[in-house]
Amino acid sequence: MDINKIEKAAELIREAKYAVAFTGAGISVESGIPPFRGKNGLWNSTDPIFLEIGFFNKKPLQSWLKIKEIFYDKLADVEPNIAHKVLAKMEKRSFLESVITQNIDHLHQRAGNQYVYELHGTYKQLVCTECSSEFDISFADLNYLPPTCYICKGILKPDMVFFNEPIPFFAKKKAFEEIAKTDVLIIIGTNAEVLPAADFPVKAKERGAKIIEINIKESHFTKTITDIFIQAKATEAMLKIGELLYL
Ligand code: APR
Repeated sequence: MDINKIEKAAELIREAKYAVAFTGAGISVESGIPPFRGKNGLWNSTDPIFLEIGFFNKKPLQSWLKIKEIFYDKLADVEPNIAHKVLAKMEKRSFLESVITQNIDHLHQRAGNQYVYELHGTYKQLVCTECSSEFDISFADLNYLPPTCYICKGILKPDMVFFNEPIPFFAKKKAFEEIAKTDVLIIIGTNAEVLPAADFPVKAKERGAKIIEINIKESHFTKTITDIFIQAKATEAMLKIGELLYL
């Protein structure tokens, strides 16, 4: 890990007027959640069709069986890691304004970040496909699939953005507002392959924001918008940045 780049990144963050973090699956890998692409990537071994909204509507039980195995059984006992925790401390100490995340694992909130905008929704909530009522996951017994709505008996869906579904309006609106204000964007652990999420950092760059990127390997951003590329695990880089900010 290039310590000079870490020091430059920490200085940019210290001097920033409105630093924002943009995170992907890579920040949660060291919490035990596999990424979607690259080494141990979920999509290397699992067909993403079960997360496509048309498939879900046609075969909810088949989709739910996979969703439970891949997400709910796995996310039951994971914890925020040091990278999540440093971002939370940065917010507390006003070095960070918000986190825009593609992750559905709720780990930023559990680490303590208040201002988190989830572009791809969350696993924590279920929504009725008939009447749109929403329920916290703790109300559902996932031993009986697919879960049904307590109000209208419609089929419940995780409040995550499936393929061919739009980004939730509120998260999109807030993400645009944050991107319009940021002067330093810290991108952690994303391949930058999925649109429209990957467009947000590009918009920040077009507005003149400085881009810090932390990843174990180059992403689609590295050679296009990144100003400081720190090739390291999220926990290693964020631990160091946290130390330099005296968190
Ligand atoms: N530290 C930092 N980066 C890491 C680490 C780590 N320990 N481990 C992996 N990475 C990087 C990988 O190099 C890769 O660039 O994290 C990125 C993970 O990429 P993806 O798995 O494609 O995750 P992401 O970019 O968040 O995917 C976006 O795709 O399937 C959809 O909805 C899903 O939100 C997801 C979206």
